[in-house]
Amino acid sequence: MIHIRSCRGLEELEACVQLQVDVWGYADGDVIPRRVFLVAQKIGGQVLGAFDTAKAGAARQGDAASMVGFALALPGVKTSSGQPVSYLHSHMLAVREGYRDTGIGRRLKLAQREDALERGIARMEWTFDPLEIKNAHLNLHRLGAIVRRYEPNFYGSSSSRLQGGLPTDRLVAEWWMDAPRVHSRLRPQTAEMPNEAVQGEAEQGATVEVEVPAAISQWKADAGTRDQAAAVQTRNREQLQQAFAQGLAIVDYRLDADGSGRFVLAPWSEP
Ligand SMILES: CC(C)(COP(=O)(O)OP(=O)(O)OC[C@H]1O[C@@H](n2cnc3c(N)ncnc32)[C@H](O)[C@@H]1OP(=O)(O)O)[C@@H](O)C(=O)NCCC(=O)NCCS
Repeated sequence: MIHIRSCRGLEELEACVQLQVDVWGYADGDVIPRRVFLVAQKIGGQVLGAFDTAKAGAARQGDAASMVGFALALPGVKTSSGQPVSYLHSHMLAVREGYRDTGIGRRLKLAQREDALERGIARMEWTFDPLEIKNAHLNLHRLGAIVRRYEPNFYGSSSSRLQGGLPTDRLVAEWWMDAPRVHSRLRPQTAEMPNEAVQGEAEQGATVEVEVPAAISQWKADAGTRDQAAAVQTRNREQLQQAFAQGLAIVDYRLDADGSGRFVLAPWSEP
């Protein structure tokens, strides 16, 4: 059974650091150290862990040994109508290989949302790589985040093995956690009762779609095909920036049967 809760004690924070290294393969200079996890907890951020309660040896070694996922968020402040407004910037979400695609990533996001709303924080942001089809599906389609900003080479060069040496272009996800569209996305869907938010946007008529080919992760991972991945990145950067300049937002993500993905852009006025 997977149990999700706030991390406690230095050992669990150390387990987050180790999981981060295992997942991203960062060089030392890119690793977020335990101290930052600790500070995040102290200043109103979030360090949530997913623990496998059945993991062999965990009972003997303590909870840190059973950590299979974590989410780290830092508190932020924006100005809205001249007033400071608190929000959370979710900097990392990780699930250990072998535990993925069973809903743990989504559950960590939902736990972040629950904690934030209890504290009166309605907005969460995070960045994600527009070439990562799975992340885009989770963020945009399953969670109901929207995107209005494209940040080219946001972090500069990165030692992350997931980056494949490409510029660290990022989309900024905005998760308006109490908005009707998010409530609607989080409601269980059935074939008879399709998701209202998706239906509503389809009725308005989506105006632009931007495609990410299914082979993108292979192209990124293989030095011989990295140019193809770079070409998609450049093309999509131009198309998305152009659409954002026209006032459109990414409101959904569609998966095609061949494994490719499509950003769906439409006018967005909430909240
Ligand atoms: C991103 C990550 C945290 C997601 O965790 P997870 O526990 O696997 O996520 P979930 O199981 O909750 O959701 C994954 C969704 O993607 C879908 N998915 C899996 N592989 C996919 C693929 N190749 N293409 C499209 N969707 C895919 C799953 O079916 C699931 O969707 P569903 O609920 O509609 O069926 C995890 O993959 C990870 O740690 N990745 C490496 C680090 C990373 O990229 N972190 C996020 C950026 S900071």
